[in-house]
Amino acid sequence: MKIKDPKTFFIRTYGCQMNELESEVMVGQLKRRGLKRVLDEELADLLVFNTCSIRDLAERKVMGKLGQLGRSKMRNKLIGVTGCMAMAKKETLFKKLPHVDFVIGTNNLSELNNVLDDVVASGKQQIRTEGEYDALDYTIAEREHKIKGYVSIIRGCDKYCTYCVVPYTRGQEVSRPHEEIEREVRDLVQKGYKEVTLLGQNVNSYGKDRPETGVLFHDLLYRLDKIEGLERVRFLTSHPIDISVQLMEAVRDLRTVCEFVHFPLQAGSNRILKKMHRIYTKEQYIEKVALLRSIAPNAKLGTDIIVGFCSETDAEFEETYQLFDEIGFSVAFIFAYSPRKGTPAMRWQDDVPEEVKQQRLHRLLELYEKKAQEERLELVNTPMEVLVEGKNKNGQLKGTTRCWKNVILEGDDSLIGTLQMVDISGFNHSTLIGTVKKPLIV
Ligand code: SAH
Ligand code: SF4
Ligand code: F3S
Repeated sequence: MKIKDPKTFFIRTYGCQMNELESEVMVGQLKRRGLKRVLDEELADLLVFNTCSIRDLAERKVMGKLGQLGRSKMRNKLIGVTGCMAMAKKETLFKKLPHVDFVIGTNNLSELNNVLDDVVASGKQQIRTEGEYDALDYTIAEREHKIKGYVSIIRGCDKYCTYCVVPYTRGQEVSRPHEEIEREVRDLVQKGYKEVTLLGQNVNSYGKDRPETGVLFHDLLYRLDKIEGLERVRFLTSHPIDISVQLMEAVRDLRTVCEFVHFPLQAGSNRILKKMHRIYTKEQYIEKVALLRSIAPNAKLGTDIIVGFCSETDAEFEETYQLFDEIGFSVAFIFAYSPRKGTPAMRWQDDVPEEVKQQRLHRLLELYEKKAQEERLELVNTPMEVLVEGKNKNGQLKGTTRCWKNVILEGDDSLIGTLQMVDISGFNHSTLIGTVKKPLIV
């Protein structure tokens, strides 16, 4: 027998920042319904899994977890699956996991409470995955952090890289009206937030689907920069083809815009880039990086790389390796190619053996670690602006630099929520260690 009227809920999030934000909205929805959030799943009447489909491992993790629930005594709880895997698997989830009560796709999340009503009233499984664009009410999000927050500016993706499920799990690009975004950011600042991260699969496409508004991504940055009390703006992710000179100038000129651009390269060989449908060549990518570095020399770069894409040869991987070495990324996420159902790349054989993918992955990770170590050594003795965000498990203050490095520092709680100039004295793994610069007493 399933629990009839849930009073408590537990939510687990897989995947990217967009999923984290959407989970925060779902927490807000469920609390408004009167449910209490619990952090121990055993104590919850309702379990929600907000899922990701980007690689096989992401799906396997949640499928394993859901399978295990079906075999445990927790199967009497109400169980919901939301997010990208809900879109990728739809009804088939019920076949594999008959104890799941509802499935809600990425463009139907605002219906969560109605779906829950229907499940409770009918005692039957419910599914909503057909929505095209769901005007989610982000103002009810119960946010994890109190100093920095995510703000969705554009949903979906129209790029159709051949390896990627996102255009199918999130639909077409739809920009949020800029007035709504500005209102949300102003509201966050009023609540004490100092930093926002603007989210989209490709933030640089912002506004192109609403030409009548005349507000493109860089225009939005200029508008947000005027908000008093807002200290920092970050953004994720940028497709290299759409990174404009105006955006680079905004990174250079705007007080709030942090000097960090996530610039996913994916591969360093033109044949592979073409096969991935990345719509730029290695030369064009290098040119964009050079332009960014000439306009905004302080900007640090982040990237994503996929190794072992269909038919990638050793020589082609070497091109990625060389380019990675030459460019010098400050942050990198490196993945082994994982074939995804429904994507164009499924037409091709996944013919790079797993061991080869892993070798390429490890070589690149080693190079990344070497470069990161060099970068950290350069940062020692450099004063850096840190937004103090809270405390870590050891009771030390923690924060981030404008260029997205984590820093721990000594100091009292009154520094939380403030910007401090910090001297970097060393580092522990990838975390920098700093001391707050004392003002000179004359
Ligand atoms: N919209 C963003 C990224 C979305 S997914 C962008 O285009 O940059 C995050 C990263 O996951 C991608 O940049 C890519 O490197 C990786 N990724 C996507 N699909 C993948 C797959 N099938 N196998 C391995 N990595 C993948
Ligand atoms: Fe996926 Fe490409 Fe869109 Fe990024 S730009 S979400 S990698 S299809
Ligand atoms: Fe995963 Fe969907 Fe984000 S597939 S990475 S949760 S957009």
